[in-house]
Amino acid sequence: MANRSEVFESFVTKFGTPQYQVTVPGRVNIIGEHTDYNDGFVLPFTMDRYTWIYAKKSEKLRIYAVDYHEFFEQNIHVKSSWMKYVESILTEISSISNRDIEPLELAFGGNIPIGAGVSSSSAMVCGFVALFNEFMNLGLNKGEMISLASKIEHGSGVLGGKMDQTAIFKSQKGNALLLDCKNETTSMVKIPEQWQFYLVNTNVKHELIDSDYNDRRQKMEEAKSLLKRDFKTSLRQITGADLESIKPYFQHTVLEMVQFVLEENQRVKDMLENMKNGEIRDAGKLLYKSHEGLSQKYKVSCEELDFVVEECRNNQDIYGARMMGAGFGGCVLALTMVNTNLGRWYSITNRLYENRFGRGLDLIKVRSSNPLIMKNLN
Ligand code: GLA
Repeated sequence: MANRSEVFESFVTKFGTPQYQVTVPGRVNIIGEHTDYNDGFVLPFTMDRYTWIYAKKSEKLRIYAVDYHEFFEQNIHVKSSWMKYVESILTEISSISNRDIEPLELAFGGNIPIGAGVSSSSAMVCGFVALFNEFMNLGLNKGEMISLASKIEHGSGVLGGKMDQTAIFKSQKGNALLLDCKNETTSMVKIPEQWQFYLVNTNVKHELIDSDYNDRRQKMEEAKSLLKRDFKTSLRQITGADLESIKPYFQHTVLEMVQFVLEENQRVKDMLENMKNGEIRDAGKLLYKSHEGLSQKYKVSCEELDFVVEECRNNQDIYGARMMGAGFGGCVLALTMVNTNLGRWYSITNRLYENRFGRGLDLIKVRSSNPLIMKNLN
């Protein structure tokens, strides 16, 4: 993991003076998980961990990944996963612009934990898209960049929704972004100043995340088409009472997933009220409820995440916690009052966790940040 000046210095050493700087934050999601590709609501904010990109016009395309100490050049054998992203970025940019990629020298890296469910890959892809948009004068607006970044990420295998890319391009410091994923409309929701969010990284990186994630998505796509075909309705329209009548037509596991999505959408709405009133206790309860649903109904948690959430319940200073992001590993999000020190809790929990799972936890205090910022340094 690198900080901004390390990425900058790497660029200067390898390529000289940069012309462009892109600062791209990672994303945290307060609540509304696995709802973005289900026409639901999500409530993310961007955090103070970033990917930085420096670049300049050149004769030849050369990309250096500071965190991996590796170079990418066109026509080389692609070996790392970050290079696969670069390849699909270049292919899509060239196809959308209908011309060859203009060569540049670029270095990127940062301090967003990788594979931890905080969108390190979306940060990279969105950053490259914003850079090429400026560099090649593509004239794409934010909505078009969001769609392009999302398409590129689908090429990597995970058929995600648009929460991460939308947060990265459209968030505002001090606020969470309420995204209605059906209409793709957004609004800002102030994060109470007395609230503090922590991430607890389980350091579990699920190898088969694309197949498990896509499996959930496919099941929900099937459920949605069944609702449309046989009941002439959509996920947005059905209520708890409707669930009873459709019960016989759905497999139990799918019905639970549908139920989770309805409940999670309601929790997003309830969270808005709690944020408005600064009701941290009720907000915390929603986080625990969300975790229960993700673990038991949507089945995207894992033993390590469940363990950390249980340990959060044992600390009165933690009002609520839940797994965050796609799941199957990655981070737990925990809510406390500002100025709460979780140091003691962390050292005890970390020891228990190490004994049980043979690896450590990371505790990361997060603050909301600005969205992606593209700067022409000339
Ligand atoms: C991943 C995807 C998002 C979203 C979350 C789960 O982060 O990229 O689109 O579906 O999982 O809420």
